[in-house]
Parts: sequence; C-alpha cells; structure tokens
Amino acid sequence: MKLKLAMLACAAALWAKDSCLECHSELDGSLAAPTQAFKDDVHKGLGFSCVHCHGGDSSTDDPERSMSRARGFRGKIARTAVPELCAHCHSDAALIHKYNPKQRVDQMAQYKTSVHGQRLAKGDVNVANCVDCHSVHNIRAVRSPLSPVHPLRLPDTCSTCHSDANRMAKYGIPSNQHAEYRSSVHWEALEKRGDLSAPSCASCHGNHGATPPEVTSVAAVCGTCHVLMENLYKESPHEPVFAAMEKGGCVVCHGNHAVEHPTTDLLVGKSSVCADCHEADSAGGKVAEEMGRSILELRAALDRSDEILGRARRSGMEVSEPLLRQMEGRENLVKARVAVHAFDAAAVRQPVQDGLAIAAETHNAGEEAMRERDYRRMGLGLSLIAIAATMIGLWLAIRSIEGREKPIASPDGGG
Ligand code: HEC
Ligand code: HEC
Ligand code: HEC
Ligand code: HEC
Ligand code: HEC
Ligand code: HEC
Ligand code: HEC
Ligand code: HEC
Ligand code: HEC
Repeated sequence: MKLKLAMLACAAALWAKDSCLECHSELDGSLAAPTQAFKDDVHKGLGFSCVHCHGGDSSTDDPERSMSRARGFRGKIARTAVPELCAHCHSDAALIHKYNPKQRVDQMAQYKTSVHGQRLAKGDVNVANCVDCHSVHNIRAVRSPLSPVHPLRLPDTCSTCHSDANRMAKYGIPSNQHAEYRSSVHWEALEKRGDLSAPSCASCHGNHGATPPEVTSVAAVCGTCHVLMENLYKESPHEPVFAAMEKGGCVVCHGNHAVEHPTTDLLVGKSSVCADCHEADSAGGKVAEEMGRSILELRAALDRSDEILGRARRSGMEVSEPLLRQMEGRENLVKARVAVHAFDAAAVRQPVQDGLAIAAETHNAGEEAMRERDYRRMGLGLSLIAIAATMIGLWLAIRSIEGREKPIASPDGGG
C-alpha cells in the first residue's frame, strides 16, 4: 500500500508538468511537429513523454534548465544512437512485461544480426534503424492498420530506400524488389483477397533479424508456408544441388519477389524452366515431358467432362452427383501439380491415373444424361405427333358428322 502511494506520488510529480510538450507546441516547424504527431503515439498512451527519450527536465519552463546537458538532455538523437535509445526500454524485460507480459524483448539482439544492424554499427547511416520502419513521434501499435510496419504498408516503408536507385547504387544491389513484389501472387493474395497469411517483406526477411526466426536462410523461407512442396522437394535430386547455388531452393524455378501463378508451361514448351538445365532427351528432360504431358492430359479430360455435364445440366438433366465427383477429379489435379516437386514421373502418375479414371466416369455419366435427354425429347416428339394425329382425326370426324347432319332446306323457305 505504502509502495503504491509512493509510486503514485512519484508519477504525479513526473506528470504534473510537461514543459517540453507545452513549450514545443508553441514553436514552429520541426520544433513543433513532434508535439502534433505525438498525440497518436503508443508511448503517449502509456504515459511516456518527450523527456523519456530526449532526457532533460520537464518540470521547469526555463529552457536553459529544462534542456540542460547536466539534467541529461540529449537533444536530437543521432541516427547511429537510435537503436540503443529504443533498446534502453525494449530490451528491459522487467519494464516491458509490466505493460505487456507476452511481449518480445529481442528486437535489438535480432537487429544486430541483420545487414541493417551490422552496417549501422560500422557507422553507415543509409540503412534502416528502428524509426525508419516504425516512424518517430507517431509510433503505433504494430497491429494497427495505420502502422508503417503493418503487412499492407510495409512494402511502401521498405521501398522508401530499396526503390531508391541512387541510395542503393553503391551497394550493388537491385532496386526492383518492390515493383516485382507488387506483381506477385503473394501481394495479390494479401491486397486483393485480404489473405494475411500471404507474405509481406518481413515474413520472408524477418522483422528485425537477418531471417525469420525459424529459418537459417531467406531462401529456405518458402517451405515454412508451402509445407507439402517443401517435403517433396527436400527428398528430390535437386535439393543438394540447388542448396549450393547462390539463389537456390524454390527460387530457382519460382523467383523470389515476382512469384507468378505457376502453370504447366514451366515443365513443357517454350518457357520451360527445366529446359534451362536439362536437354530434351536427357533423363531430366524426359521426366519434365512426361509430367507436363500427363498433367495436361488430366486437365483436358476434366475439362471435357465439365463441358458435357454443363450441357446436360442446362437442358434440365439431374447431374449433381457426377458434378461432385468432378471435384474429386480436380483434387487429383492439384495433387499431381504438388507431386511435381518430387521430380519423379512416378509420383505424378498416380494422381493423374486416379483423376483420369474419375474423368472417364463423369464423362460417361454426362453422355448417359445426354442420351437420356435425347430419348426424352424423342418421346416428347412422338407423343406430340400422336396428339396432333388424334386431333386431326377428331377434326375430320367432326367434319364428316357435320356434313352428314347438314339440315335439308325447309319447304317453307325459312331455313
Ligand atoms: C520554454 C521553451 C522550451 C522548453 C521548456 C523546452 N524546449 Fe526544447 N527547444 C526549444 C527551442 C526554442 C529549441 C530550438 C533552439 C535550441 O536548439 O535551443 C528547442 C530544441 C529542442 C530539440 C532539438 C535540438 C536539436 O539539436 O535539434 C529537442 C530534441 C528538444 N528541444 C526537446 C526538448 C525536451 C525533451 C524538453 C523538455 C525536457 C524541451 N525541449 C523543453 C524550446 C523549449
Ligand atoms: C520514443 C522516443 C521519443 C519520444 C517519446 C520523443 N522523441 Fe523526439 N526524437 C526521437 C528520435 C529517435 C529523434 C531523431 C529522429 C530522426 O533521426 O529522424 C527525435 C527527434 C526530435 C526532434 C528533432 C526533429 C528534427 O527534425 O530535427 C525534436 C525537436 C524532437 N524530437 C522533439 C520531441 C518532443 C517535443 C517530444 C515530445 C512531444 C519528443 N520529441 C518525443 C525520439 C523521441
Ligand atoms: C526493417 C524494419 C524494422 C526495423 C529496422 C525495426 N523494426 Fe520493429 N518491427 C518491424 C516489423 C515488420 C514488425 C512486426 C510487425 C507485425 O507483427 O506485423 C516489428 C515489430 C516490433 C515490435 C513489436 C513486438 C515484436 O517484436 O513483434 C517492437 C516493440 C519493435 N518492432 C521495436 C523495434 C525496435 C526497438 C527496433 C530497433 C532496435 C526496431 N523495432 C527496428 C520492422 C522493423
Ligand atoms: C521509456 C521506455 C521506452 C522507450 C525509450 C521506447 N519505448 Fe517503445 N514502448 C515502451 C513500452 C513500455 C511499450 C508498451 C509495451 C509493448 O506493447 O510492447 C512500448 C511500445 C512500443 C511499440 C508498440 C508495440 C506493440 O505492441 O505493438 C513500438 C512499435 C515501440 N514501442 C517502438 C519503439 C521505438 C522504435 C523506440 C525508439 C525510437 C521506442 N519504442 C522507445 C517503452 C519505450
Ligand atoms: C532507411 C533506408 C532503408 C529502409 C527503410 C530499409 N532498408 Fe533494407 N537496406 C538499406 C540499405 C542501405 C542496405 C544495405 C545494402 C547492402 O548492404 O547490400 C539494406 C540492406 C537490406 C538487405 C540486405 C541486402 C543484401 O545485401 O543482401 C535486406 C534483405 C533488406 N535491406 C531488406 C529490407 C526490408 C525487408 C525492409 C523493410 C521491412 C528494409 N530493408 C527497409 C536501407 C533500408
Ligand atoms: C516470398 C519471400 C520474399 C518476399 C515477400 C520478399 N522477399 Fe526479398 N528476397 C527473398 C529472397 C529469397 C531473396 C534472395 C536472398 C538470398 O538468396 O539470400 C531476397 C532478396 C532481397 C534483397 C537483396 C537484393 C536482391 O534483390 O537480391 C532485398 C533488398 C530484398 N529482398 C528486399 C525485399 C523487400 C523490400 C520486399 C518487400 C517489398 C521483399 N524483399 C519481399 C524473398 C522475399
Ligand atoms: C508467410 C507464408 C508464405 C511464404 C513465406 C511464402 N508463401 Fe507462397 N503463398 C502463400 C499464400 C498464402 C499464397 C496464396 C495461396 C493461394 O493463392 O491459394 C501463396 C501463393 C504462392 C504461389 C502460387 C500458388 C498458386 O496456386 O497460384 C506460389 C508459386 C508460391 N506461393 C511460391 C512461393 C515461394 C517460391 C516462396 C519463397 C520464395 C513462397 N511462396 C513463400 C504463403 C507463403
Ligand atoms: C525445378 C523447378 C521447381 C522447383 C525447385 C520448385 N517448384 Fe514449385 N512448381 C514447379 C512447377 C513446374 C509447377 C507447376 C506445375 C503445373 O502447374 O503443371 C510448380 C507449382 C508450384 C505451386 C503451385 C501448386 C498449386 O497447386 O497451385 C506452388 C505453391 C509451388 N510450386 C511452390 C514451390 C515451393 C515452396 C518450392 C520449394 C520448396 C518449389 N515450388 C520448388 C517447379 C518447381
Ligand atoms: C538450375 C538447373 C536445373 C533446373 C532448372 C532443373 N534441374 Fe533437374 N537437375 C539439375 C541437376 C544439376 C540435377 C542433378 C544431376 C545429378 O545428380 O547427376 C538434376 C536432376 C534431375 C532429375 C534426376 C535425374 C537426373 O537427370 O539426374 C530429374 C528427373 C530432374 N532433374 C527433373 C527436372 C525437372 C522436371 C525440372 C523442371 C521442373 C528440372 N529438373 C529443373 C538441374 C536442374
């Protein structure tokens, strides 16, 4: 109880006056801007203020004393000093866990392993420090859609530097990551479909470290989400060879930033990736050919079944059961496309055969339904003819009866 009172008194003293905020609100330009921005800062919401980062004495209006080095005032924080400033609190588990018991406190430790952190430690101020990604004076909770590190905003945040060809020129790395990523299946899934399980920049590169925590190299990151492909690929003849390449792994065939919707063109035809390394008549070339051909064969068979079942349904036939079977057929197509990653023709053969069997069955069902329809139409035609014939017969009969009953003109001429 006593302790609590003492803490309250202490807090009251600290927060009683905030001369930094008061005076700076009255100033102009870059001296006042932080006070405006600070309204939405996560730290303000927690009771922190200017003094907790810049030091000094916020209890006095005298700028000489308030911003005196003797009272710990640090002035504007140099770029190289930013991580240490933030880590002063964010690496302090006792402090952070008071506010958020489950929060990580390894941002600084991780940051030091990244290219950014290593270069900054050597004095290179072109790289990202904490405030380049999180902003300063209006730092948001990372879950906020307004935070610059939110997955939908992060590509823009990284691209302020990485799309700047001048800034990147001296490092000899390309500045096309953002442009390529924006054309990828991943950005499409994230932005258009709101699928937050699709990767943004940091899902592959790590939030703070050189790589995300669960992988040893960025090239190995794909498998953390695409587990089925990864499992097959790991056992394939490519794994040891590609692992030794500079940009190896899945990236050899799919690329890293501009990942596209893959099609069978990757296996056969002019844009085959396999052909980059395997001659058509080599073992690898033959496997590529067989896998590509059988996948195309299955797709074509399923398409034919879809077509005939569609026609049957449109003419009112009941084909819901074969249409359901078609879905199982499509699942085999998906399985076959996944099985490609064993780079072994036998692995693809099984699902293709299963799928072809289903396609044959559903195509039969479609043909059957169409025959049934023709039969019914013929039946209908015949009955229409029969009805017409009966009606004509009836009409003729009526005519002849009428003819016979035609009254003879009456003698008095009345009629
Ligand atoms: C009575 C007004 C006043 C008070 C109180 C005051 N400042 Fe300032 N501050 C100024 C002015 C004017 C400047 C610009 C001139 C200068 O650098 O001395 C400035 C400059 C700064 C700068 C930029 C220094 C630089 O090198 O660019 C920072 C950071 C800063 N103040 C933070 C604080 C903090 C933190 C406090 C509270 C502990 C505080 N100020 C209190 C008026 C004030
Ligand atoms: C969470 C830590 C933090 C808090 C809280 C904070 N600042 Fe800063 N401030 C910084 C850092 C870091 C920089 C250097 C930013 C950079 O490199 O662009 C900075 C820069 C500044 C500058 C120099 C701006 C410029 O463009 O030259 C001023 C002035 C300033 N802060 C004032 C304030 C005032 C006033 C407050 C309170 C309303 C405040 N700061 C709160 C971290 C903080
Ligand atoms: C290259 C960009 C970048 C830099 C540099 C960076 N961060 Fe982050 N930070 C992120 C991303 C991305 C997230 C995660 C956002 C999410 O979860 O969606 C994050 C999350 C956080 C979180 C929330 C807890 C967590 O770890 O997920 C804190 C706190 C944080 N960063 C502090 C820091 C500090 C302190 C530094 C400097 C030592 C720093 N960040 C440097 C991008 C960065
Ligand atoms: C005086 C201590 C202190 C300083 C200095 C400080 N922070 Fe914080 N910060 C906290 C506390 C406490 C929290 C709330 C705990 C939490 O949610 O992580 C927090 C929260 C955050 C969050 C939100 C995390 C989330 O849960 O979404 C981010 C991002 C963040 N700080 C970044 C920074 C950056 C960047 C710097 C340096 C410019 C910095 N902080 C400096 C104490 C501090
Ligand atoms: C303030 C500018 C800046 C921001 C913001 C920034 N970076 Fe960087 N980054 C750099 C610079 C400069 C390098 C050094 C280039 C080098 O050494 O190759 C670098 C290096 C890298 C590297 C290592 C490249 C290599 O050499 O292999 C990666 C990966 C990277 N950044 C990713 C990111 C991601 C992801 C983000 C956003 C979350 C980001 N960066 C935000 C400036 C920035
Ligand atoms: C799907 C995963 C993934 C996503 C998303 C991703 N990257 Fe990459 N990135 C990689 C891989 C893999 C490499 C190659 C690195 C290696 O082999 O070590 C790479 C390389 C880089 C490099 C080094 C230079 C280069 O181009 O080779 C930079 C810088 C970079 N990425 C920045 C970004 C930025 C910025 C974003 C977001 C706009 C982003 N990355 C999104 C996987 C990804
Ligand atoms: C954070 C999880 C995650 C990571 C890491 C990841 N992906 Fe994806 N990937 C997804 C999601 C989610 C989709 C969208 C799924 C969909 O379209 O149904 C997707 C889609 C794809 C597609 C298109 C699938 C299709 O049917 O068109 C390919 C190819 C792909 N990713 C390859 C890669 C490669 C290569 C890497 C590594 C460089 C990678 N992914 C890293 C989650 C991830
Ligand atoms: C040697 C080339 C090659 C490598 C290496 C490779 N793939 Fe593929 N991948 C393909 C081909 C070819 C297809 C398309 C098959 C088709 O559509 O007929 C494909 C298709 C895909 C699909 C889409 C499947 C679907 O059902 O929509 C995903 C996702 C995928 N690959 C992810 C990965 C991942 C993750 C890795 C690494 C573990 C990887 N790939 C490695 C060649 C490769
Ligand atoms: C970057 C070059 C490269 C690409 C692209 C590539 N491979 Fe390979 N492939 C290799 C190498 C190297 C080996 C290992 C040869 C060995 O161990 O003797 C191999 C082995 C194979 C094998 C085992 C039989 C053999 O020749 O040893 C098959 C099958 C195979 N690849 C199929 C494919 C298919 C299918 C594709 C396209 C989806 C493909 N490869 C793409 C380089 C490549």
